[in-house]
Amino acid sequence: MKVFDTPEEMRAWSMERIREGKTIGFAPTMGALHAGHESLMRRSAEENDVSVLSVFVNPTQFGPNEDFDKYPRTFEADCTLAEKTGQQAVYAPHARVMYPEGFATYVDVERLTAGLCGASRPGHFRGVTTVVSKLLNAVLPTRLYLGQKDAQQAAVLRRMARDLDFGVEVVVCPTIREADGLAMSSRNRYLSTEERE
Ligand code: PAF
Repeated sequence: MKVFDTPEEMRAWSMERIREGKTIGFAPTMGALHAGHESLMRRSAEENDVSVLSVFVNPTQFGPNEDFDKYPRTFEADCTLAEKTGQQAVYAPHARVMYPEGFATYVDVERLTAGLCGASRPGHFRGVTTVVSKLLNAVLPTRLYLGQKDAQQAAVLRRMARDLDFGVEVVVCPTIREADGLAMSSRNRYLSTEERE
């Protein structure tokens, strides 16, 4: 399994696969992978000739008082799971590569981002749509795999892909739950027993 950390390397690898006539499946993540991510990676590997995972904790989608600094980072374990689920490549760019000095271009999906999570997390979806645009431009996937758990995110990214002609098929996969019914999330580890209930 290859690990790339610049868009140039990632795109060169993908362009070779495209030249070979292969389809590319892609699951974007912020790492700290759990069974929900695993289901996206497995489906991507099943439905495509090659499959790519990205791991990038994206600073622009966190608000000033959110958990960017303490967001769990488990890169080695993430790579082990990626390999086990049949990923051919992991794209893990550094923040300075994604957002170099002078970075000034953002992608904004209007209306769909106004309510729900968008109302309580100003700027969150602008960060998500910007980073996913950049990831799509590097990975050049045929299909993009997203979780139904983040329903608004899936709707926003589907609209973005359509409006900006990314030419990618958006596949939304079912929510995977813990035994007690809680949707799996990298942030579940923050919950106390009462909060969890
Ligand atoms: O759902 C996530 O983990 C993130 O919002 C995503 C899509 C990887 C963009 O950073």
